[in-house]
Amino acid sequence: MTQNILLLPGDGIGPEIMAQAVRVLEKLKTDGLDIRWDDALIGGCAVDATGVPFPPETLAKCMAADAVLLGAVGGPQYDVLPREQRPERGLLAIRKEMQVFANLRPAVVYPELVEASTLKPEVVAGLDIIIVRELVGDIYFGEPRGIEIRNGERVGFNTMIYSESEIRRIAHSAFKTAQKRNKKLCSVDKMNVLECTQLWRDVMIEVSAEYPDVELSHMLVDNAAMQLVRNPKQFDVMVTGNMFGDILSDAASMVAGSIGMLPSASIDANGKGLYEPIHGSAPDIAGKNLANPLAMILSVGMMLRHSLNQVAAADCVDAAVKKVLAQGYRTGDIMTAGGLKVGTVEMGDAVLAVL
Ligand code: IPM
Ligand code: MG
Repeated sequence: MTQNILLLPGDGIGPEIMAQAVRVLEKLKTDGLDIRWDDALIGGCAVDATGVPFPPETLAKCMAADAVLLGAVGGPQYDVLPREQRPERGLLAIRKEMQVFANLRPAVVYPELVEASTLKPEVVAGLDIIIVRELVGDIYFGEPRGIEIRNGERVGFNTMIYSESEIRRIAHSAFKTAQKRNKKLCSVDKMNVLECTQLWRDVMIEVSAEYPDVELSHMLVDNAAMQLVRNPKQFDVMVTGNMFGDILSDAASMVAGSIGMLPSASIDANGKGLYEPIHGSAPDIAGKNLANPLAMILSVGMMLRHSLNQVAAADCVDAAVKKVLAQGYRTGDIMTAGGLKVGTVEMGDAVLAVL
């Protein structure tokens, strides 16, 4: 049966990195993969065209697709808009509507890019960790929220909230991810201060009884941030809530060399998913053929693996990225001594040539 992919290029560098991902899809299709794709608007381009960042037509197409591939959203011109119209709202809405609660953010250091990290080579060489971030709950979505006048002054407030069922389902995703790897899971919380994360820890411990083969540990988030830059290789799989996961995954990306290298998968209860690079729309370099398309291409790999069940094709895509790095091709963000500096399109050419 033909599998349907929805492409959401978005804003900034989104369209140009998506164009390279599409070349990869075209090649796989020519080679016999039974896929087809359609596209739709999200983010700033959707605001420009329709007035809202996540139009109903886009939602309908997301629901009908087998998997969704997203570029990036946002740009400085939209920061003046009311909060509901900002591109980021579109991103939060698509995650919530698709109920893609399990966000997998791998941070892998490719041997060729050890020098691209700002940390010492011996600290990062061989790093291969994955952060499992809960994506549709927590303070990102908690109510009440707002800014209002109390006792004659403005007060801003948000609500950190998790139900035990929300914690339990992300716990299962994380334990299953750990089972496929080195069977070590570190749950990150702030239970010394926040009740919400005390419950998080309690539920993690309860669920761990079902996974006796996985070694569960716990770490407070401030310490986890420190340990990620001190000795990241102590981790295998980390699981945490939406906000802590947002922050820790950016830290992990720089450990891995460049945020331009990291793909992500956000998966719902049935394995359907939303796939996107973890980086943003980089408006400063948009349209200049400077962006690194590899995180976007690796996101295609994750989509093939996790939602389309095309493991062999996924392996091919991952191997092609490794190969072009070994051949010395580098965009500016991952440039290392002796590398062959290329632009977005030429990096795409290189991937196509080895696919
Ligand atoms: C991410 C981003 C988003 C988030 C923003 C753009 C809303 O930082 O995917 O990590 O905070 O989740
Ligand atoms: Mg983030």
